[in-house]
Amino acid sequence: MAAQTASLKLDGKEYALPVMVGTEGEKAIDTRKLRAESGYICFDQGYGNTGSCESTVTYLDGDNGVLRHRGYPIEQLAAHSDFVETSYLIIYGELPTAKQRKAFGQLLRKNAAIETQMQRIFEGYPDDAPPMAMLSSIVASLAAHYPELAANNFEKDLQHFDLAAAMAIAKIRTIGAMIYRYQHGLPYVHPKDIPFCENFLHMMFSEPYKDYVAEPEVARALNLLLLLHVDHEQNCSTSTVRMVGSSAANLFTSLSAGISALSGPLHGGANTAVMQMLQAIHDEGDDGTRFIEAAKSGNKNNRLMGFGHAVYRNFDPRAKIIGDACEKVLAKLGIDDPLLAIARNLEQAALKDDYFLSRKLYPNVDFYSGIIMRALGIPVNMFTVIFAIGRTPGWIANWREVASQPKGRIYRPRQIYTGPVARDYVPIEKR
Ligand code: CMC
Repeated sequence: MAAQTASLKLDGKEYALPVMVGTEGEKAIDTRKLRAESGYICFDQGYGNTGSCESTVTYLDGDNGVLRHRGYPIEQLAAHSDFVETSYLIIYGELPTAKQRKAFGQLLRKNAAIETQMQRIFEGYPDDAPPMAMLSSIVASLAAHYPELAANNFEKDLQHFDLAAAMAIAKIRTIGAMIYRYQHGLPYVHPKDIPFCENFLHMMFSEPYKDYVAEPEVARALNLLLLLHVDHEQNCSTSTVRMVGSSAANLFTSLSAGISALSGPLHGGANTAVMQMLQAIHDEGDDGTRFIEAAKSGNKNNRLMGFGHAVYRNFDPRAKIIGDACEKVLAKLGIDDPLLAIARNLEQAALKDDYFLSRKLYPNVDFYSGIIMRALGIPVNMFTVIFAIGRTPGWIANWREVASQPKGRIYRPRQIYTGPVARDYVPIEKR
């Protein structure tokens, strides 16, 4: 693998470090043996410049706004594919043939329902419980309900992988809809034999004796939203799934950990924070001008949510697609949302402002996704759940990579200890 080496001089000794090059030319210095040979570790708080794995799933070039899944540009997938097909691609590495696509769709439909015993879990939660807290714990319980698919043994769990993956995708979507119904005191609606997104909307919004039938534009908009969230390289939740999975934890347990990681406002929770921000600006009668000024204070509590990204230093290609789709969806549904005008004002102002330009802060995927979800009738506290439904295939593909690596090792980073040096215990009466 190492055609080239890097050399490092430390304490008068020289170390040759292998250089790795990915298929898109990404370069890395392999420091795995450095500690054993020199006693030094690499320090990289938050792993911002650390390659934690080799992966064939997603290529992301944050400097140039490039995102490709299994080689296919996100723009092409958004224009021509749908969520279920892209999920197959992400998980299995190739676009499905017509036969594979049909079989995958059928497996999802067959495994969409939540059994009665599992439904009882919901009753243990207050009806105002945060949806992401409910989702992560209910998904963790899949391992308890289907122990035959969750052996905590890579070999055994991979034997049942197709079923476990389909269950996870279909059931997380159903659980999401059930959380909404539970919180609104509405009876659960069972999944039907209809396409994935239509089925979700049916389970969310059907009324007694009146099935909700999604308008094609509505189902298409949800499809696009889920597709745009399907995977995003080694972000916080995906790395969490890999980390938990690396201990040989089963797929469901690892996904539950990913959902927990996603719930934070700096990650998946940002779409909720964007809507709260836009609503607050609207309620205060601001057009965004005052808020932009406050956002430049450097105070973390005043950040322009939906702006900036840990890896995109140019534009987020998903934000472009979603920003365009947002206008079209609202126009088709005949919705005139004042929050869209505020978002456009904020974007235009920020893109002319040196504070944002010099820090390379551009809209990210969450900036417009909330406005679309609101147009579809999805309440703000469910936004991150929708993100989780979309991200599930990416987490699954990453878990599978971890489980399939015969020479993979448990994730176990090091640290630089900065606490007190060794000292003797003092009995309580002498303190
Ligand atoms: N509004 C105002 N200032 C900002 C913002 C923002 N949204 N984001 C970063 N900055 C400033 C920050 O204060 C710092 O300024 P200075 O150099 O003067 O100290 C500079 O820009 C660099 O910030 P940083 O915190 O080092 O950037 P980061 O790469 O660590 O953080 C981020 C990335 C996404 C956490 C951050 O941009 C942020 O908090 N954005 C708002 C939350 C958000 O929209 N998150 C969704 C991310 S996309 C969804 C996903 O993939 O998970």
